[in-house]
Amino acid sequence: MVSFEYITNSPKQTGNLGKKIGAVLKQGDVLALSGDLGTGKTCLSQGIACGLGVDSNVPVSSPTYTLVNQYEGKILVFHLDLYRIKSDDEFYLSGLDEFLSGNAVTIIEWADKHVDVMPAEAVWINLSFIDFKTRKILITYNEDYHEKKLFSFGN
Ligand SMILES: Nc1ncnc2c1ncn2[C@@H]1O[C@H](COP(=O)(O)OP(=O)(O)OP(=O)(O)O)[C@@H](O)[C@H]1O
Ligand SMILES: [Mg+2]
Repeated sequence: MVSFEYITNSPKQTGNLGKKIGAVLKQGDVLALSGDLGTGKTCLSQGIACGLGVDSNVPVSSPTYTLVNQYEGKILVFHLDLYRIKSDDEFYLSGLDEFLSGNAVTIIEWADKHVDVMPAEAVWINLSFIDFKTRKILITYNEDYHEKKLFSFGN
């Protein structure tokens, strides 16, 4: 596994990191996001969508009730939120595994609630609070599936 750690000091910086992530993604990529309420998963997702060419006027919000949002970028983007999915069985019965393969990019909030359903190729992104405006964002993935330096963005 390889990891890269980033510190952001504002929602804007988190969005900019998301843009860089979005810009290097390709069809079939799955981003498994984890982190407590309000750490910035949706903020990061907005940036990722932007980096994938989704129009900035398209609202990107937590699909907590709808389970899935879909955006049209250079690549199709599925945005899932597993907060309300109680079990791995419920995940499958809801047909959500359908979004894990194919020609889209899939961003999944609360992926850590259902670790076992995530593919080995998933890029894990954990967000945590440092303080009110500061977040630690840790990107971890298996180098068998992604170029080792893919998510290394320098400064
Ligand atoms: N460095 C930062 N990065 C991201 N968000 C930040 C940062 N500093 C402060 N914030 C604030 O934290 C909140 C993050 O909200 P966001 O909806 O993105 O979190 P979330 O992890 O998706 O929450 P939920 O679990 O409810 O879906 C926003 O109110 C944002 O303004
Ligand atoms: Mg959210």
